Amino acid sequence: MDRPEPFTLVVFGASGDLTRRKLVPAVYSLFRDGQLPERFAVVGFARRDKTDESFRNEMREAVDTFARVKPANGDEWGRFAARLRYHRSSFEDPEGFRSLRELLAKGSGDGTMPASRLFYLATQPQWFAPVIDQLSAAELICPECRPSPWSRIIIEKPIGRDLATARELNALADGAFAEDQIFRIDHYLGKETVQNILVLRFANSIFEPVWNQKYVDHVQITVAETIGVEGRGAYYDRAGALRDMVQNHILQLLCLVAMESPSSLAPNDVRDEKVKVLKALRPIPRDCVANDVVRAQYTAGTIGRKAVPGYREEDNVPNDSTTETFVALKTCINNWRWKGVPFYLRTGKRLPRRMSEISIHFKAVPEVLFNAAPFGPMEPNVLVLRIQPNEGISMQFQVKQPGPGTGIRPFRMDFGYSHSFGHAPPDAYERLLLDAARGDSTLFTRSDEVEAAWSFLAPILEWCGESDVELPVYPAGTWGPEDADNLIHRDGRLWHGEVKTWA
Ligand code: BG6
Repeated sequence: MDRPEPFTLVVFGASGDLTRRKLVPAVYSLFRDGQLPERFAVVGFARRDKTDESFRNEMREAVDTFARVKPANGDEWGRFAARLRYHRSSFEDPEGFRSLRELLAKGSGDGTMPASRLFYLATQPQWFAPVIDQLSAAELICPECRPSPWSRIIIEKPIGRDLATARELNALADGAFAEDQIFRIDHYLGKETVQNILVLRFANSIFEPVWNQKYVDHVQITVAETIGVEGRGAYYDRAGALRDMVQNHILQLLCLVAMESPSSLAPNDVRDEKVKVLKALRPIPRDCVANDVVRAQYTAGTIGRKAVPGYREEDNVPNDSTTETFVALKTCINNWRWKGVPFYLRTGKRLPRRMSEISIHFKAVPEVLFNAAPFGPMEPNVLVLRIQPNEGISMQFQVKQPGPGTGIRPFRMDFGYSHSFGHAPPDAYERLLLDAARGDSTLFTRSDEVEAAWSFLAPILEWCGESDVELPVYPAGTWGPEDADNLIHRDGRLWHGEVKTWA
């Protein structure tokens, strides 16, 4: 792939976790792999008092800890560090943005900061709008500057906290930038395993004919994390699992599994198909939410033999918080392909194992011959797309046990990324930063997509706000509350990997 043209990345929220854990390590790995242009610069913008030097030292530590490619020697780090600058200002101070403009103009004059600019909103969500306003006021955005030099903006999730606020933010961004300059990030779309969903479905002929209600019994999407809120209590307590994971990552996974083949990989062709899925999601009526949605919060428990505190004991979380850290829900897609196929979605923090996967459960064969006594009942075929960790795909099918007789048992055929390609896939942020710098928005979400996802969640969020039902709890280190198991058991199904413990 071509390298992007020279650009300057301006990161708002440069003292934050995202910059340290993801953004700068990703830029460094791209730099070391030779995927960035010779001329590029990174300007960190934040409120804390720092010098270029202290910012560089912090970033060195971040790269050492989090980058895929570690600083090998002083020379390479030195060449990279020379491109890092720090600009101190609050996000509301017009003067700070004016001096940013001067800094960028000076850098573009002496060639150290290329004139094409990628602004990255890595701040707390409440600062997205003020920063966009200040960028406009300081005339740092140039909607007409295309193709070069360009200005683009990357907006981290969450885009809004409900449909109304998402619309407001989209309108604000649309007022300042043209749609093709706005890159709404959902980092799941940058994961190799997520991109592979479309390849698996549409670059092979064997899956598409059975990828529908005729052959698929149900689909499960699980995104399980062992971590808690990791110092992000203040943000998380306003978000909760529905806003933090379901509205974006999980619904994006669902779209990729369920969408029709786009006519090309052009950004709008792909996004048009995703929007159709979101619009076809059967809204969960208010009076059914209690039945089809389970929310819960973790209490203290043990993960990997380590005792961990409950959610209400985390920093910056009120001790009477009713924010959910776990959600399981059942939905359906009202279209020709998926009518009647349940999609079970589940995500939670402080679960026993980190595991994100999509499992497609095919219908059982008829209850005659092998699927009847004395051989059956038999487990149906399951195709599992392991998003992370141990990235790969497995297919479960029945085989005859070698030997006399007709013993039959399920067998798993497995493909693993590290085993097949010799290394784990690169971090999602590497791909997404590179695509935004190239101007390719295929792996970013469009405003109508974000709004359609919020529309689906609207009745659920309203119900959460109004329901006086006590929020169920689950001890850290377990797979959520019993209600989440009942959600799927009452349909006669099990969560993938769950063992049936009742008759
Ligand atoms: C983020 C959420 O978007 O995704 C976090 O805000 C979550 O709460 C994270 O932990 C999970 O990302 P990943 O790539 O580790 O699965």
